[in-house]
Amino acid sequence: MPRHLPIPAPPARRRFRQRLLTWYRRHGRDLPWRKTGDPYHILVSEIMLQQTQVDRVLPKYAEWLEKYPSMHVLASAPEHEVTETWRPLGYNIRPRRLQSIAREAVARYGGELPSDEETLLSFKGIGLYTAGAIRSFAFGERAAILDTNVARVLFRVFVGKGELKSHAMTKHLWTLSATLIPSRHVFDFNQALMDFGAMICVARNPKCLVCPMKKDCRWITGDGSRNTRRARPVPK
Ligand code: ADE
Repeated sequence: MPRHLPIPAPPARRRFRQRLLTWYRRHGRDLPWRKTGDPYHILVSEIMLQQTQVDRVLPKYAEWLEKYPSMHVLASAPEHEVTETWRPLGYNIRPRRLQSIAREAVARYGGELPSDEETLLSFKGIGLYTAGAIRSFAFGERAAILDTNVARVLFRVFVGKGELKSHAMTKHLWTLSATLIPSRHVFDFNQALMDFGAMICVARNPKCLVCPMKKDCRWITGDGSRNTRRARPVPK
């Protein structure tokens, strides 16, 4: 591992976990897919959220589960109807993917989703992120997630400078994400990472002044030493 991409020591990991979970318990969003452990429900929410904002997903998620309450119902629904139901979320491949996952789950696994990473990744339409989300949210496994928001949070807090989008950085951020997962509260921790990226450590005008990580954030301190640079302001 290059010297400028270090893995944080256990005390720094503990601080991050603790601060993130405390923040989440106070400020995290109350979302319907956080009240379930049903793998199918988790799958539907994560595929919907891949390219669509939470606000637009909320009504469609409820409608979808009413119309297609299980893998079996979705698997046997007519394709054109499934695409039509999805339509307000955009013209794209996601409804076909979701239905093909349901069909494969019915054909090969009795309508269940498997929990191991390799089998999940063998489904067309389930990539590393979705596999990690299903394993941690539906099965409580210590599985890492990394989407755009989570990558930005981990990059800023633990790296601070360099090329966020490089292959080496992505690999490093996956390692960080895996290293940081606590042994308990995996579900909350991964959901919290997403909310933190969507609400505090946002892409433009991040809310550094109210950020619970600001003392240790490498993006603010410049080099990981504490408070050498002023926290970036909260926009009006
Ligand atoms: N974006 C992707 N997955 C999400 C989740 N579970 N909650 C909120 N936003 C998300």
